[in-house]
Amino acid sequence: MSLKIGMLTSGGDCQALNAAMRGVAKTLYKQEKDVKIYGFLNGYKGLIYGKYELMKEKDFSGILTEGGTILGTSREPFKYINNVGEDGVNKVPAMIDTYKKLDLDCLVVLGGNGSHKTAGLLKSKGLNVVTLPKTIDNDIAGSDHTFGFMSAVDIATTALDQIHSTAASHSRVFIVELMGHKTGWLTLYAGIAGGADIILLPEIPYETKAIVKTIKERSKKGKKFTIIAMAEGAISEEDAKLSKKERREVYANYPSVSYKLSAELTEATGQEVRVTIPGHVQRGGSPDPFDRVLATRLGIAAAELIINKEYGYMVCEENNQISKIAIEEVAGKTRLIETDDPMLEQAEKMGICLGR
Ligand code: F6P
Repeated sequence: MSLKIGMLTSGGDCQALNAAMRGVAKTLYKQEKDVKIYGFLNGYKGLIYGKYELMKEKDFSGILTEGGTILGTSREPFKYINNVGEDGVNKVPAMIDTYKKLDLDCLVVLGGNGSHKTAGLLKSKGLNVVTLPKTIDNDIAGSDHTFGFMSAVDIATTALDQIHSTAASHSRVFIVELMGHKTGWLTLYAGIAGGADIILLPEIPYETKAIVKTIKERSKKGKKFTIIAMAEGAISEEDAKLSKKERREVYANYPSVSYKLSAELTEATGQEVRVTIPGHVQRGGSPDPFDRVLATRLGIAAAELIINKEYGYMVCEENNQISKIAIEEVAGKTRLIETDDPMLEQAEKMGICLGR
């Protein structure tokens, strides 16, 4: 059978994007005789503006361990997808046009939440689409894990490990602010793995007094330092009650959420408080073994869907089994940590403060 596939990586990059594309490509080349893969450059932009390369089989070799994406990526916000740009390009018809001109059998999209909305739209317009869940945030509905997540957990954990000794030497409180957008998966996992004393998540607006109490109790016990793992989307109970506009005004005075908390804790505890933000370091470098395996398995599954002409699905992982879910069941949904998640209760049982 001859197959013509388009492939793109969209949204923020993460580890194991290359590993996943390698899984798709190697399986297709191995299982089918006449395979053409067009790699669209820099995300949906490549599909919109017809910027692509006909990939060679060797392009997918030697990339298992490489960070980033060989195709490049960009953010193409869904909320503007139907807007005609300043260049006069109508994005959705332009994408359909490129797909049709190349006479593709299927478009493979490796993306996060926003990218899945666009993939769902393209599916509704009649394109054959298969997607793979990527993001360090682990917040895609329908999959227990997304590739990129565990590698980011490794890096964030190392950051927390490194902070411990200097925090102890100086008897300081350290806030390590971690990525994750509106979800706390990365902070929860890294916080537990890195032995954080306090873990603050967007899903649980925190009470500052609960944090202060934990720091003071630790001091009383002779533990002079405290490590706080704080998600970039975490906010206090009070701030959670504000309107978006009011919140923007309050936070305009701080570079990020942890600086606001730092100021509050300095005043309330009298202890020295420092902020460390690993930032995009969390998204960089080689994928860890977990992500390499997950991305490869998902890549193989995506290729199988294409070979079987089962279009319109995202490949996913549930209870360590690889399966599929309709794109429309994923698009527009964010997988948050449930406030009754057993992991939270377990953390609290051993004395980790979750700010509640
Ligand atoms: O979605 C992945 C992510 O790294 C988030 O954790 C973070 O909020 C965001 O992307 C950062 O985006 P950018 O790379 O565009 O600054």
